[in-house]
Amino acid sequence: MISVGVLGATGAVGQRFVELLADHPWFDLTLLTASDRSAGKKYGSVVDWRLESALPEKARDILISPTTVDTIRKVDLVFSALPSEIAGDLELSCAQAGVGVCSNASANRMRPEVPLVVPEVNPDHLGLIDVQRDKGVNGFVVTNPNCSTIMMTMSLAPLRKFSYSSIQVATMQAISGAGFNGVAAMAIYDNVIPYIGQEEEKMELETLKIMGSLEGGEVKNALVDVSASCHRVPVIDGHTMALWLNIKEDPERVREAFRAFNPPISGLPTQPTSSVYLHDADNRPQPRLDRMRGRGMTVSVGRIRKGLRYVAMGHNTIRGAAGASILNAELIVSRKYL
Ligand SMILES: NC(=O)c1ccc[n+]([C@@H]2O[C@H](COP(=O)([O-])OP(=O)(O)OC[C@H]3O[C@@H](n4cnc5c(N)ncnc54)[C@H](OP(=O)(O)O)[C@@H]3O)[C@@H](O)[C@H]2O)c1
Repeated sequence: MISVGVLGATGAVGQRFVELLADHPWFDLTLLTASDRSAGKKYGSVVDWRLESALPEKARDILISPTTVDTIRKVDLVFSALPSEIAGDLELSCAQAGVGVCSNASANRMRPEVPLVVPEVNPDHLGLIDVQRDKGVNGFVVTNPNCSTIMMTMSLAPLRKFSYSSIQVATMQAISGAGFNGVAAMAIYDNVIPYIGQEEEKMELETLKIMGSLEGGEVKNALVDVSASCHRVPVIDGHTMALWLNIKEDPERVREAFRAFNPPISGLPTQPTSSVYLHDADNRPQPRLDRMRGRGMTVSVGRIRKGLRYVAMGHNTIRGAAGASILNAELIVSRKYL
């Protein structure tokens, strides 16, 4: 077993990590960190557990450690669910100290030597770990994209054989995407908020890196124009998005491509049976009905129409965050980087 920890273990994404790692066949969860407010106390006594599953027994009695390199270096691999402003330097220092870091935070995503990976889309970008190693880093930092960018790029993976030059996307994003204390009930109940700070910029930039090609130790960005409009809606979990691509193909050929999608990974414990699932009903996908498909790891698509227009949806704290990061870690292990 590989000893692992979760940084920011008490937060919305941190709790998902704890839930998904409790019975993991490869990873042994031994370290949980949070802010100084929580450090030194038992996880079970501090965490305000908000998931439908019970708080895992294994985590209940773990003493929360401070989020410092000295405590983190005791494990082989950490999953970072820290606020971005704290994550940046700390993750790099952990990698320098020999720890593998799989991060949800945005701070290091666009660094040229840091892979921004969705295993079903660009697993070869893990090759950037070699660039980090060439610079003397013993561990590594590997990131997963922003939650809505993951859903979008997963839905684009089956469409690689079609040519298009522009993507327009309008998102309807769940409240949990802002963290537990991110949106006040009085602000979101009976409402839609047409602004999520930095979200549109992240979708527009991160997509180019993920869909780019790794050449000579660097990623050449994809040549596609991405235009995003992001909105917060009163849904607890599950980001939905409407997409427009300038693909002129018959929609039936696009449906066939979705059905035939065969991702370039296999045998990873967190990988769902269907990475991308095509719904035929006109009123699907819906977050409440479809977000837990594939234990929350499947991205649902539907409403394929001429133009090309379609809808994609996935669970933001599982597929869009903790589950994505764990799948990255499994890929890293399977490729012998750890
Ligand atoms: N929510 C999503 O759907 C989603 C999706 C993708 C990526 N992300 C990213 O994942 C990260 C975590 O998001 P979240 O929604 O889980 O946030 P959150 O609910 O606010 O949780 C933040 C966590 O960080 C800890 N923390 C706060 N300040 C700290 C400090 N100074 N030192 C050490 N630990 C500190 C908190 O510990 P205390 O409890 O002790 O304060 C808590 O465990 C963010 O970078 C976010 O952008 C979130």
